[in-house]
Amino acid sequence: MRAVVQAGYGDPAEVLAVRTVRTPTVGDDEVRVRVRAASVHPDVWHVVTGLPRVLRGMGSGVRRPTPRIPGTDMAGEVESVGARVTRFGPGDAVFGETITGMQWRNGAAYAEYLTVAQDALAKKPANVTFEQAATVPTAGLIALTNLPDLEARGAGQRVLVNGAGGGVGAIAIQLARSSGAHVTAVDHTRKLDLLRTLGADRVVDHTTDDITRSGHQFDVVFDVVGNHPFSAYRRVLATDGTYVLIGHDHFGTQGRRWLGSIPRMFVLMARSTVDRRLPRPPFATPGRREAMDRFHDLLADATLAPVVDRTFTLDQVPDALALLASGRALGRIVITPG
Ligand SMILES: NC(=O)c1ccc[n+]([C@@H]2O[C@H](COP(=O)([O-])OP(=O)(O)OC[C@H]3O[C@@H](n4cnc5c(N)ncnc54)[C@H](OP(=O)(O)O)[C@@H]3O)[C@@H](O)[C@H]2O)c1
Repeated sequence: MRAVVQAGYGDPAEVLAVRTVRTPTVGDDEVRVRVRAASVHPDVWHVVTGLPRVLRGMGSGVRRPTPRIPGTDMAGEVESVGARVTRFGPGDAVFGETITGMQWRNGAAYAEYLTVAQDALAKKPANVTFEQAATVPTAGLIALTNLPDLEARGAGQRVLVNGAGGGVGAIAIQLARSSGAHVTAVDHTRKLDLLRTLGADRVVDHTTDDITRSGHQFDVVFDVVGNHPFSAYRRVLATDGTYVLIGHDHFGTQGRRWLGSIPRMFVLMARSTVDRRLPRPPFATPGRREAMDRFHDLLADATLAPVVDRTFTLDQVPDALALLASGRALGRIVITPG
């Protein structure tokens, strides 16, 4: 089969090449999928470039990445199933995440075929395309795991999503809206129409306005970007509110090449022992199968309506990553192996 193979860490144009490799054989609990679409997101960029360097010792591979094929989530058609697979059969349209555990790993999705555990998959609803479905699993898991349970807090929660036009933020807006929250979404000028399409009640342009000095109050601040310190958000966070930092390393443009956002995460974690507005570890994470079933339902009833900006072929993965890092995409970027 054809696949993107990563020679080492570095500039995507230098370390990635399309090669012919052995098609993976299917294990007893696995499904072999013909990939129709795979998503492009910052964690793919991190593992291809090897930045921040700490990730190399946290699962992606110290000298070079293992596996060598990038991509962490995809949608496609089941081609064959292992002896113990009961939930899927050949021809089923599915989508899912191809990594387990740490996000900073290659998951072999940028290939014509891959094998994946059946519990990492759900059936793709007929009302969404392969391209749309492929954008959901990895970004969706981050959003689902980190967004506080808004329904349990009651309708009308005031939610701020900072960095709302990216992969994680777009899903956070839609999850928050579906639970009856009032959503304020912050991103670049060029993404404000996209934020309205995604359902934001109020949009704020980060190039002209500082949301932490807006005078608004929020019950939840879901901060994908981390461009303001927690102390600034305290001005707009309700006394019983919750602040969640996802963290974004801006594709290496802001330094932090060794540790990225990790030191800041540790500071917030330590501070969570004395400030109840910060979530405390251990964080509850949904099981992968439950999460995928939930994404199936959210796509099927159009609660999640992924917006795809552009598709690229396997040969064009470096161009796709360059578009991602430029911030110019209006919606998600997808690889279609053909
Ligand atoms: N997406 C995934 O599947 C995934 C999975 C696991 C973990 N993560 C992690 O989660 C983080 C976010 O991922 P993502 O996919 O949502 O990233 P993304 O698609 O790059 O989205 C980030 C958004 O924040 C915007 N932004 C940049 N500076 C801003 C500022 N000062 N104020 C407000 N908005 C600003 C960006 O706009 P511009 O593009 O114009 O700069 C972009 O729209 C990353 O660190 C990633 O490693 C992501």
